Amino acid sequence: MPEMVDLGAYGADFTVDPYPYYAMLRSQGPVHPVRLPGGEEAWLVVGHEAARSALTDPRLSKNWRAVGQPGEVRDESALFTSMLDSDPPQHTRLRKLVAREFTARRVEALRPRVQQITDELLDAMLAAPDGRADLVETLAFPLPMTVICELIGVPALDQEAFRGWSNEIVAPTGPEAMQKAMLAMSEYLGGLIETRRDNPGEGLLSALIRTSDEDDDQLSRDELVGTAFLLLVAGHETTVSLLTNGVRALLQHPAQLDVLRADFSLLDNAVEEMLRYDGPVETATWRYSAEPIEIGGTTIPAGQSVLVSLAAASRDRQRFGAADDFDITRDPRGHAAFGHGIHFCLGAPLARLEARIAIRSLLERCPELALDVAPEELRWRTAMLIRGTEHLPVRWTG
Ligand code: HEM
Repeated sequence: MPEMVDLGAYGADFTVDPYPYYAMLRSQGPVHPVRLPGGEEAWLVVGHEAARSALTDPRLSKNWRAVGQPGEVRDESALFTSMLDSDPPQHTRLRKLVAREFTARRVEALRPRVQQITDELLDAMLAAPDGRADLVETLAFPLPMTVICELIGVPALDQEAFRGWSNEIVAPTGPEAMQKAMLAMSEYLGGLIETRRDNPGEGLLSALIRTSDEDDDQLSRDELVGTAFLLLVAGHETTVSLLTNGVRALLQHPAQLDVLRADFSLLDNAVEEMLRYDGPVETATWRYSAEPIEIGGTTIPAGQSVLVSLAAASRDRQRFGAADDFDITRDPRGHAAFGHGIHFCLGAPLARLEARIAIRSLLERCPELALDVAPEELRWRTAMLIRGTEHLPVRWTG
């Protein structure tokens, strides 16, 4: 049995810059038993190749109910009744019903609207008389939140209430606060679904309510709540961090920013490099070993919780060479930011579209954009799922 690594012992440094710790662990092997900063025990996968094999191994289940895994604070909440909590064939069924809304073609059709929302948000931001703003409040949160609400067909969603519950569930401040947020979220979404059932409208939620595929398949109420929750949370929490981590990487690497400003044809590649270098999802969601499984020479016993560090995989030198360098001209393909295998991010085309539009528009309208905070004063989100700062103060007038 390899020795348990106590990630909590690394302190706050591990939240701000976990990469040196991942590099150290990777040099000792791709899989380690760990104690997380919150106290839970799990197996952590840190190598690129091992991550890909873990994410495609059917013996690692996502169905926490079937495995009876106690390691996580969860109740029988409908919130966790979605494709991301399922294995095939249930996963195949739930994903198929939503996937048709997220094809590259459907997403491309959203381009004019995403540009319009971005322009309006930047108009409002640039009206600030002192030339300063928190990019999270002005752009990184409202853009993806507005887009996903419109896509789902809940334009009147109470964004601030939703944001509070979502933040608490994704990065809990404590078990009680998390339970409370889950209950409130579940009731709120259940109410939205009832309203939509009585008054069908445009959007994905109404389509899912009336959906029936070839087998006359209907989503149950819990499945509707779980799917709405997954889309609303995955659709904004992650994209907020892509925008803030990406803009921060550019502002902290002025030579790379100059290269991009001089040639915007590099934009798509630059966004991929942002995802690789400092992606929004630090570890993939929990997986559970249904039977003993060997990964990268280490055997994980049955009934264990497994976390795949996407951040560590994307910085593996064996795969990306000088992986700790932020270089928008490198080939970043194969990064792990959107996961891998059957749970590969369904929203990747939408996230890419939003990031490309937002970052280009921001840079074009703010030729003097700069950080308005010393990097060591940034406040970091502490949970291991989402990586990013709570705010990103910027200025744009010299
Ligand atoms: C930069 C932004 C995003 C990143 C980095 C990201 C990352 C990920 C990752 C890593 C997974 C797999 C998790 C795992 O296997 O444990 C995932 C799954 C998923 N994402 Fe995203 N995501 C982003 C944006 C979005 C958006 C905008 C949406 C929807 C509108 C979305 C919807 C989903 C869904 C539905 C799944 C579950 C897929 C399944 O279980 O088959 N994501 N995402």
